[in-house]
Amino acid sequence: MVYLTRKAEFSASHYYHNPAFPPEENARLFGKCNNPNGHGHNYTLEVTVKGAVDPRSGFVVDLKQLKEIMSREVLDVLDHRFLNKEVPEFFTLIPTTENLAIAIWKRLEPKLKSAQLHRVRVYETPDLFVDVFGEEDHGEDDHRVDDQGEEADGKA
Ligand code: NI
Repeated sequence: MVYLTRKAEFSASHYYHNPAFPPEENARLFGKCNNPNGHGHNYTLEVTVKGAVDPRSGFVVDLKQLKEIMSREVLDVLDHRFLNKEVPEFFTLIPTTENLAIAIWKRLEPKLKSAQLHRVRVYETPDLFVDVFGEEDHGEDDHRVDDQGEEADGKA
């Protein structure tokens, strides 16, 4: 198995807010990030695909195709956008780096044909990044309800 990573950068703004929380809880949990006017980040995205090297081409993936998919599915959608207001995933989901990485995974994974998506890494700053791998439950869909259900059943 060979792993190949392509890097890209995009800039976007966001703010953190959970409408289910009272204002003071939003302020406590999210601090400055709760300002509804938003603030920007220069994100770095790393997309890693894996597969066998095609003996005819020597490639694990068609690089041109990977670049096109990343541009069309991710960069065109996120770059220079206010994530909360312009990107559908974040109309209801808090645009943390975690959720951003999951959203990028979900956008890319069905589009990749020749190689398999292995990892999506998103840097919010040079010191902070999130990794998403496909084989795990990403945990973003109503996980509070599921967690409570499992605890009630005594399985958690
Ligand atoms: Ni931020």
